[in-house]
Amino acid sequence: MLAILEGPTDISTYIFPIIREELFMFLPRDGVVAEVGVLEGGLSQHILTVATPQRLHLVDLWECQADRDYALDPSNGTPELQNVRLDGVKERFAKEIASGQVVLNRGYSHLIAESFPSNYFDWVFIDANHTYEAVLTDLRAYGAKLKEDGLIVGHDFTNQRYAQECKFGVVEAVKQYCRESGFVPVALTGRDQFPTYVLARRSHARQAQILMFSLFRTVRGIVEIRNFLDRDFRHETVRFSDEMQNFIISV
Ligand SMILES: C[S@@+](CC[C@H](N)C(=O)[O-])C[C@H]1O[C@@H](n2cnc3c(N)ncnc32)[C@H](O)[C@@H]1O
Repeated sequence: MLAILEGPTDISTYIFPIIREELFMFLPRDGVVAEVGVLEGGLSQHILTVATPQRLHLVDLWECQADRDYALDPSNGTPELQNVRLDGVKERFAKEIASGQVVLNRGYSHLIAESFPSNYFDWVFIDANHTYEAVLTDLRAYGAKLKEDGLIVGHDFTNQRYAQECKFGVVEAVKQYCRESGFVPVALTGRDQFPTYVLARRSHARQAQILMFSLFRTVRGIVEIRNFLDRDFRHETVRFSDEMQNFIISV
C-alpha cells in the first residue's frame, strides 16, 4: 500500500494552486452529500459527475430575499428569476430526482438542516448566504450532521474588496467556527477568484488524511500555512487597466 515516507507528520493548512472544480475530484466518492446554496445547479452537475454521490441533497430557498445585507448578494434575484432557476434545476436533474439520487430541499438552509439525522453526511458544501451570521449558522447546523470523519467544504473564502462590498463574512465566520468547534482548516484553493476551503474535525480524521494524501501526491507548488487561525488573511485583487484581474493571498 502506498504511504508517505517523508513529509508533514501532522496536517496543518495548505494552499493548493488549483480551482474548486479540481478540488472536487479529490473529495470522497459515493457518499451522502449536501450542496447548501444551489442557484442553477451548475456545480451540482459537477459534483454528480466527479464525486458520484449515492445521495445529493440540493438545499436552496430559491426565493428573492429582501434582507438588507443579502440584498447586495449577486446571487439574489427577482421572484421570477428564482422560479426560473428552480424549474431549471428540476428539469436538469429530473432523472436523478426520480431515482432518488438527488433530493431537492427547498427552504432556509439552517431550518432544512434540522430535518437531517446526526452522523449523516460524508461532506457538505456551504455556499448559500455569505454574511458572517448566515455562514456561521450554516457551519454550526451542518457541522452537527456530519459523520465523525466528514468534511465541511465551503465557498468564497475571500475578503477582497468586491466581497466586502457584498457584505461577505466567510473568512471570519470560518475562523470563529473552527475556534469554537475544534474543526481545523486543512485546505484552500489558491487559483480561484473565490477560494474554496476544507475543514475537518481533526486533521488525522480518515477522510481528511485520504484527501490530503491524494492532493500531496498530485498537486505541485503547495504552500503550508502554520497556525492559520491566528494569522491575518487577506485576499487582494490586482486590477489592470484592460479589465484583467488577478488575486493574491496574503497570510
Ligand atoms: C452563490 S449561490 C450558489 C451557487 C452554487 N453553489 C454554485 O456554485 O453554482 C447562493 C444560493 O444560495 C441561496 N440562498 C441564499 N441564502 C439562503 C438561505 N438562507 N437558505 C437557503 N438558500 C439560500 C440562493 O437562493 C442562491 O441560489
